[in-house]
Amino acid sequence: MDSTDSKAETQKRVRELLSRERYEHTLGVCDTAESLARQYGCDVGKVAKSALLHDIARDFSQDDMQCLIRQDEPDAVFSETFLHEPLLLHARAGAVVARNQFGIDDRDILRGIELHTTGGPGMGLLERIIFVADFIEPGRTMRGVKKAGQLARENLDAAMLYILKLVLNYLLDGERCILTESIDAYNEIILNREN
Ligand SMILES: [Fe+2]
Ligand SMILES: [Fe+2]
Repeated sequence: MDSTDSKAETQKRVRELLSRERYEHTLGVCDTAESLARQYGCDVGKVAKSALLHDIARDFSQDDMQCLIRQDEPDAVFSETFLHEPLLLHARAGAVVARNQFGIDDRDILRGIELHTTGGPGMGLLERIIFVADFIEPGRTMRGVKKAGQLARENLDAAMLYILKLVLNYLLDGERCILTESIDAYNEIILNREN
């Protein structure tokens, strides 16, 4: 399988690899992301691929995810925060699987997968669409989903800021670790917004 595979082929293979719940969530993210891509003028095909693959490693064991990431970048030094948080690992591991097993070599598609949980600095349109779609897809029930969905239709950065604030507040309240990439994403929106 390579990056020229059709959406239907990618979808079929993803379906075989994910649990039913995860697959339904993935389809919800894909539909939402495609709709945002049409609205904001992003490549719908690339967005669909990033969305279909964004949670491809979500059900892997922590050991498997760590192995994948370390094999992919043997010389990289990863923070303890990153290595011991499955929620952070699955996004990075997912990008490795997308490249190695699905032949994806498009940087935007891979970064959409890699940044979908934490966000990060310098996010392009595709990455921002996947980040927002993951939070607002129709199967989501978390607090703030409805408001985030409304904002996404008006201003993608406003939706990103709203979601990042919810996530950061959630992590602070639970005294959980926060990756600096998330803070960077937050700062960037604050600095760049028009007001
Ligand atoms: Fe995820
Ligand atoms: Fe997801």
